[in-house]
Amino acid sequence: PRSIWLTRHGESLDNLVGKIGGDAPLSPKGKRYGACLSRFIKFQRQENERIRTLEAETGTAMTPQKEKTVAVWTSMLTRTKETVEEFDPKEYDIKHMRFLNEIYAGICEGLSYTEIERRYPKEFEARRINKLFYRYPGMGGESYLDVIQRLNPLIIELERMTSDLLIVTHRVVLRILLSYLMDIDRSKMPNMEVQLHTLYCVEPKPHGTVVRRFKWCE
Ligand code: F6P
Repeated sequence: PRSIWLTRHGESLDNLVGKIGGDAPLSPKGKRYGACLSRFIKFQRQENERIRTLEAETGTAMTPQKEKTVAVWTSMLTRTKETVEEFDPKEYDIKHMRFLNEIYAGICEGLSYTEIERRYPKEFEARRINKLFYRYPGMGGESYLDVIQRLNPLIIELERMTSDLLIVTHRVVLRILLSYLMDIDRSKMPNMEVQLHTLYCVEPKPHGTVVRRFKWCE
Protein backbone atom coordinates (compact mmCIF):
# COMPACT_ATOMS: atom_id res chain seq x y z
CA PRO A 1 0.00 0.00 0.00
CA ARG A 2 2.91 2.41 0.06
CA SER A 3 5.86 3.23 -2.14
CA ILE A 4 9.50 3.73 -1.27
CA TRP A 5 11.30 5.75 -3.92
CA LEU A 6 15.08 5.65 -3.96
CA THR A 7 17.70 7.43 -6.01
CA ARG A 8 21.25 8.71 -5.96
CA HIS A 9 21.77 12.47 -6.10
CA GLY A 10 22.05 14.22 -9.45
CA GLU A 11 25.44 14.31 -11.15
CA SER A 12 27.96 16.31 -9.07
CA LEU A 13 31.04 18.21 -10.21
CA ASP A 14 33.16 15.44 -8.62
CA ASN A 15 31.27 12.76 -10.58
CA LEU A 16 32.34 14.59 -13.74
CA VAL A 17 36.03 14.23 -12.87
CA GLY A 18 35.74 10.80 -11.20
CA LYS A 19 36.64 11.90 -7.66
CA ILE A 20 35.17 9.93 -4.77
CA GLY A 21 33.74 11.31 -1.53
CA GLY A 22 33.94 15.06 -0.84
CA ASP A 23 31.07 17.50 -0.77
CA ALA A 24 30.83 18.89 -4.29
CA PRO A 25 27.75 20.71 -5.60
CA LEU A 26 25.69 19.47 -8.55
CA SER A 27 26.59 20.01 -12.18
CA PRO A 28 23.97 21.79 -14.35
CA LYS A 29 22.83 18.35 -15.57
CA GLY A 30 22.54 17.11 -11.98
CA LYS A 31 20.32 20.11 -11.20
CA ARG A 32 18.09 19.31 -14.16
CA TYR A 33 17.71 15.74 -12.82
CA GLY A 34 16.57 17.18 -9.46
CA ALA A 35 14.00 19.39 -11.17
CA CYS A 36 12.71 16.47 -13.22
CA LEU A 37 12.57 14.25 -10.13
CA SER A 38 10.37 16.75 -8.31
CA ARG A 39 7.95 16.93 -11.28
CA PHE A 40 7.89 13.13 -11.55
CA ILE A 41 7.13 12.56 -7.86
CA LYS A 42 4.48 15.28 -7.95
CA PHE A 43 2.82 13.54 -10.90
CA GLN A 44 2.93 10.18 -9.08
CA ARG A 45 1.28 11.75 -6.03
CA GLN A 46 -1.49 13.25 -8.16
CA GLU A 47 -2.09 9.87 -9.81
CA ASN A 48 -2.31 8.10 -6.43
CA GLU A 49 -4.68 10.78 -5.21
CA ARG A 50 -6.87 10.31 -8.28
CA ILE A 51 -7.04 6.53 -7.71
CA ARG A 52 -7.90 7.02 -4.04
CA THR A 53 -10.73 9.41 -4.88
CA LEU A 54 -12.07 6.99 -7.47
CA GLU A 55 -11.92 4.09 -5.03
CA ALA A 56 -13.68 6.15 -2.37
CA GLU A 57 -16.42 7.24 -4.82
CA THR A 58 -17.06 3.74 -6.12
CA GLY A 59 -16.60 1.99 -2.79
CA THR A 60 -13.89 -0.23 -4.27
CA ALA A 61 -11.04 0.73 -1.93
CA MET A 62 -8.85 -2.36 -1.67
CA THR A 63 -6.31 -0.76 0.59
CA PRO A 64 -6.56 1.52 3.62
CA GLN A 65 -6.52 5.23 2.76
CA LYS A 66 -2.93 6.37 2.56
CA GLU A 67 -1.53 9.31 4.46
CA LYS A 68 -1.11 12.27 2.17
CA THR A 69 2.33 13.33 3.29
CA VAL A 70 5.36 12.16 1.38
CA ALA A 71 8.55 12.08 3.39
CA VAL A 72 11.75 13.10 1.60
CA TRP A 73 15.03 12.05 3.22
CA THR A 74 18.45 13.09 2.00
CA SER A 75 21.97 12.84 3.40
CA MET A 76 23.68 15.87 4.95
CA LEU A 77 25.82 16.37 1.84
CA THR A 78 25.38 19.24 -0.62
CA ARG A 79 24.71 17.04 -3.66
CA THR A 80 21.65 15.31 -2.16
CA LYS A 81 20.29 18.51 -0.63
CA GLU A 82 20.61 20.28 -3.99
CA THR A 83 18.83 17.39 -5.71
CA VAL A 84 15.66 18.11 -3.70
CA GLU A 85 15.88 21.90 -3.97
CA GLU A 86 12.80 22.02 -6.20
CA PHE A 87 10.64 20.08 -3.71
CA ASP A 88 8.23 22.42 -1.94
CA PRO A 89 8.76 22.08 1.84
CA LYS A 90 5.06 22.88 2.31
CA GLU A 91 4.13 19.75 0.35
CA TYR A 92 6.85 17.38 1.57
CA ASP A 93 8.25 16.48 4.93
CA ILE A 94 11.94 16.99 4.08
CA LYS A 95 14.67 15.69 6.40
CA HIS A 96 18.45 15.60 6.02
CA MET A 97 20.25 12.86 7.92
CA ARG A 98 23.86 11.88 8.49
CA PHE A 99 22.92 8.18 8.37
CA LEU A 100 22.40 8.58 4.63
CA ASN A 101 25.85 10.07 3.93
CA GLU A 102 28.12 8.29 1.48
CA ILE A 103 30.78 5.84 2.68
CA TYR A 104 33.65 7.87 4.14
CA ALA A 105 36.81 7.00 2.26
CA GLY A 106 39.36 8.24 4.86
CA ILE A 107 42.72 9.03 3.23
CA CYS A 108 41.19 8.35 -0.21
CA GLU A 109 38.54 11.09 -0.01
CA GLY A 110 38.78 13.41 -3.01
CA LEU A 111 40.89 11.02 -5.11
CA SER A 112 39.96 9.18 -8.29
CA TYR A 113 40.25 5.38 -8.46
CA THR A 114 43.33 5.77 -10.71
CA GLU A 115 44.98 8.05 -8.14
CA ILE A 116 44.18 5.61 -5.33
CA GLU A 117 45.71 2.75 -7.30
CA ARG A 118 48.87 4.81 -7.93
CA ARG A 119 49.30 6.22 -4.42
CA TYR A 120 48.07 3.27 -2.37
CA PRO A 121 48.40 0.14 -4.56
CA LYS A 122 48.12 -2.26 -1.58
CA GLU A 123 44.95 -0.58 -0.34
CA PHE A 124 43.50 -0.60 -3.84
CA GLU A 125 44.13 -4.34 -4.16
CA ALA A 126 42.82 -5.14 -0.67
CA ARG A 127 39.55 -3.38 -1.49
CA ARG A 128 39.28 -5.08 -4.85
CA ILE A 129 39.64 -8.48 -3.21
CA ASN A 130 37.14 -7.91 -0.40
CA LYS A 131 35.08 -4.78 -0.91
CA LEU A 132 32.44 -5.72 1.68
CA PHE A 133 34.88 -5.98 4.60
CA TYR A 134 37.51 -3.47 3.46
CA ARG A 135 37.68 -0.37 5.66
CA TYR A 136 39.33 2.77 4.25
CA PRO A 137 42.33 3.80 6.37
CA GLY A 138 42.41 7.20 8.07
CA MET A 139 40.20 8.90 10.64
CA GLY A 140 36.56 7.92 10.21
CA GLY A 141 37.29 5.63 7.25
CA GLU A 142 34.41 3.19 6.65
CA SER A 143 33.71 -0.22 5.14
CA TYR A 144 30.47 -1.43 3.59
CA LEU A 145 29.85 -3.33 6.86
CA ASP A 146 30.26 -0.09 8.83
CA VAL A 147 27.72 1.63 6.60
CA ILE A 148 25.29 -1.31 6.98
CA GLN A 149 25.68 -0.92 10.74
CA ARG A 150 24.97 2.81 10.76
CA LEU A 151 21.93 2.30 8.53
CA ASN A 152 20.24 -0.11 10.97
CA PRO A 153 18.24 2.53 12.92
CA LEU A 154 17.12 4.06 9.64
CA ILE A 155 15.90 0.70 8.32
CA ILE A 156 13.87 0.19 11.51
CA GLU A 157 12.28 3.63 11.04
CA LEU A 158 11.64 2.87 7.37
CA GLU A 159 9.81 -0.36 8.27
CA ARG A 160 7.75 1.44 10.92
CA MET A 161 6.46 4.34 8.85
CA THR A 162 3.40 4.05 6.63
CA SER A 163 3.66 7.12 4.41
CA ASP A 164 5.28 7.21 0.98
CA LEU A 165 8.97 8.00 1.12
CA LEU A 166 11.63 9.32 -1.24
CA ILE A 167 15.25 8.68 -0.27
CA VAL A 168 17.94 10.69 -2.07
CA THR A 169 21.33 9.29 -1.20
CA HIS A 170 24.61 7.90 -2.57
CA ARG A 171 25.92 4.84 -4.37
CA VAL A 172 26.95 2.69 -1.37
CA VAL A 173 23.88 3.55 0.71
CA LEU A 174 21.60 2.89 -2.23
CA ARG A 175 23.22 -0.51 -2.84
CA ILE A 176 22.69 -1.42 0.82
CA LEU A 177 19.08 -0.22 1.00
CA LEU A 178 18.12 -1.84 -2.30
CA SER A 179 19.66 -5.17 -1.42
CA TYR A 180 17.86 -5.09 1.93
CA LEU A 181 14.50 -4.24 0.35
CA MET A 182 14.95 -6.69 -2.53
CA ASP A 183 16.48 -9.42 -0.39
CA ILE A 184 19.70 -9.58 -2.43
CA ASP A 185 22.64 -11.46 -0.93
CA ARG A 186 25.11 -9.08 0.69
CA SER A 187 28.06 -10.65 -1.11
CA LYS A 188 26.61 -9.25 -4.36
CA MET A 189 25.83 -5.84 -2.90
CA PRO A 190 29.19 -3.99 -3.31
CA ASN A 191 29.14 -4.54 -7.07
CA MET A 192 25.46 -3.93 -7.77
CA GLU A 193 24.90 -1.57 -10.65
CA VAL A 194 23.23 1.63 -9.40
CA GLN A 195 23.64 4.36 -11.95
CA LEU A 196 23.11 8.07 -11.53
CA HIS A 197 19.79 9.55 -12.70
CA THR A 198 17.89 6.33 -12.05
CA LEU A 199 14.89 6.17 -9.75
CA TYR A 200 13.78 2.95 -8.07
CA CYS A 201 10.27 2.41 -6.78
CA VAL A 202 9.91 -0.39 -4.26
CA GLU A 203 6.41 -1.54 -3.30
CA PRO A 204 5.72 -4.34 -0.84
CA LYS A 205 2.86 -6.48 -2.23
CA PRO A 206 1.14 -9.60 -0.84
CA HIS A 207 3.01 -11.82 -3.33
CA GLY A 208 6.41 -10.19 -2.79
CA THR A 209 8.21 -6.92 -3.37
CA VAL A 210 7.72 -5.21 -6.72
CA VAL A 211 10.56 -3.00 -7.95
CA ARG A 212 10.28 -0.62 -10.86
CA ARG A 213 13.21 1.30 -12.32
CA PHE A 214 12.96 4.63 -14.13
CA LYS A 215 15.91 5.94 -16.07
CA TRP A 216 16.08 9.67 -16.77
CA CYS A 217 17.11 10.59 -20.30
CA GLU A 218 17.43 14.17 -21.38
O1 F6P B 1 31.87 7.98 -7.02
C1 F6P B 1 30.75 8.20 -6.27
C2 F6P B 1 30.75 7.41 -4.97
O2 F6P B 1 29.54 7.63 -4.33
C3 F6P B 1 31.94 7.74 -4.02
O3 F6P B 1 31.74 8.87 -3.22
C4 F6P B 1 32.06 6.47 -3.23
O4 F6P B 1 33.29 6.34 -2.55
C5 F6P B 1 31.85 5.44 -4.33
O5 F6P B 1 30.91 6.00 -5.22
C6 F6P B 1 31.37 4.12 -3.81
O6 F6P B 1 31.34 3.14 -4.80
P1 F6P B 1 32.33 1.88 -4.70
O7 F6P B 1 32.02 1.22 -3.37
O8 F6P B 1 31.95 1.05 -5.88
O9 F6P B 1 33.73 2.39 -4.74
